[in-house]
Amino acid sequence: MEAPVRTHRIAVIPGDGIGVEVTAEALRVVDAAASAYDFAVEWTAFDWSCERYTATGQMMPDDGLDQLRPHDAILLGAVGYPGVPDHISLWGLLIPIRRAFEQYVNLRPVRLLPGVASPLAGRAAEDLAMIVVRENSEGEYSRIGGRQGVGDDELAIQSAVFTRRGVERVVRYAFELARSRGLPVCSATKSNGIVFSMPFWDEIFSEVAVEYPDVPSELCHADALAARMVLAPDRLGVIVASNLFGDLLSDLSAAVVGGLGIAPAANLNPERTHPSMFEAVHGSAPDIAGKGIANPVAQILTAAMMLDHLGETAAAAGIERAVDAALADLSGRTPDLGGSATTVRCTDAVIAALASAP
Ligand code: NAD
Ligand code: IPM
Ligand code: MN
Repeated sequence: MEAPVRTHRIAVIPGDGIGVEVTAEALRVVDAAASAYDFAVEWTAFDWSCERYTATGQMMPDDGLDQLRPHDAILLGAVGYPGVPDHISLWGLLIPIRRAFEQYVNLRPVRLLPGVASPLAGRAAEDLAMIVVRENSEGEYSRIGGRQGVGDDELAIQSAVFTRRGVERVVRYAFELARSRGLPVCSATKSNGIVFSMPFWDEIFSEVAVEYPDVPSELCHADALAARMVLAPDRLGVIVASNLFGDLLSDLSAAVVGGLGIAPAANLNPERTHPSMFEAVHGSAPDIAGKGIANPVAQILTAAMMLDHLGETAAAAGIERAVDAALADLSGRTPDLGGSATTVRCTDAVIAALASAP
């Protein structure tokens, strides 16, 4: 047999909790797709995690970013576990990678998958497809601020950082995406309550919108938008939002199509000057970790987004179809989707569907 023509070098950081469980399953699916679609993947695993922090005092080594840099992409499970404060674990691993590699777009698409019931009554697949484009490198997530004082005088100040370059590039990405898909763009704002950064965000959004007269666009206060995601999701397409608003709205968009167990995501460096990183919307889910019941679908679809990014578009589409086929049958669904399949059984169903109809 001839050697596969394309080899992708992927760094894998399983991380913590169910991140470890679902990443192992995503690797199995990608390996199956590699043989079906004739490409090769070279996996390099990194044990960077809260467990490592507890043992060494560091989430990743000093040269961690240098170790990741030569890879074509990074597949990450989830970071964070009880015992290590979240702001230590996340700012020690996930957030530095997003920033150092200028992964300024966090792309979070959702759609209603066959066989999955939306918690919204009377809503079908045609009503429920939206893409959150979350700013991923600045905004409300910053290390600027401080704490001082004691007792009643104690205070904390946390600054948000919005740069013209940072806002403009993510808004432009959202418009390009909307144009390519024939969708409208809605920008999540809060310029009624937040007096500097959000009017600035709105101004830049409106300036960019002028360049896309063919793309319907609107500004929507984030609180009203949250309600609209539940009450009128059919009128939404691409949603562009700041780091924090995008974080909140993407858990909500996942919930309206059946939950965090099926929502994929990509941290993209659109210019491809650095590797992009692929990790599902969900976290390490300590409440179900170790039980073998985590839904692997979110991470499998995340891996499909990674393959798409690497140019393996046929394999990515094949995995999406295989997930649809696996979930259409109750025996392939994990408990969060009303089934009783284990993580491994659900993945087996996806791999079987991939093998029968690649
Ligand atoms: P979470 O997403 O881990 O869990 C929220 C709820 O959703 C839990 O009830 C969980 O059981 C359920 N859930 C999530 N993924 C699921 C899956 N695949 N299958 C079935 N059920 C699933 O959010 P959390 O509890 O707020 O956070 C737990 C930890 O993960 C924290 O340390 C948090 O900071 C971290 N976190 C990390 C990431 C990341 O690394 N990308 C993302 C979110 C949260
Ligand atoms: C996510 C997570 C992270 C974020 C946390 C864990 C820092 O919630 O990827 O959605 O808010 O970016
Ligand atoms: Mn989140």
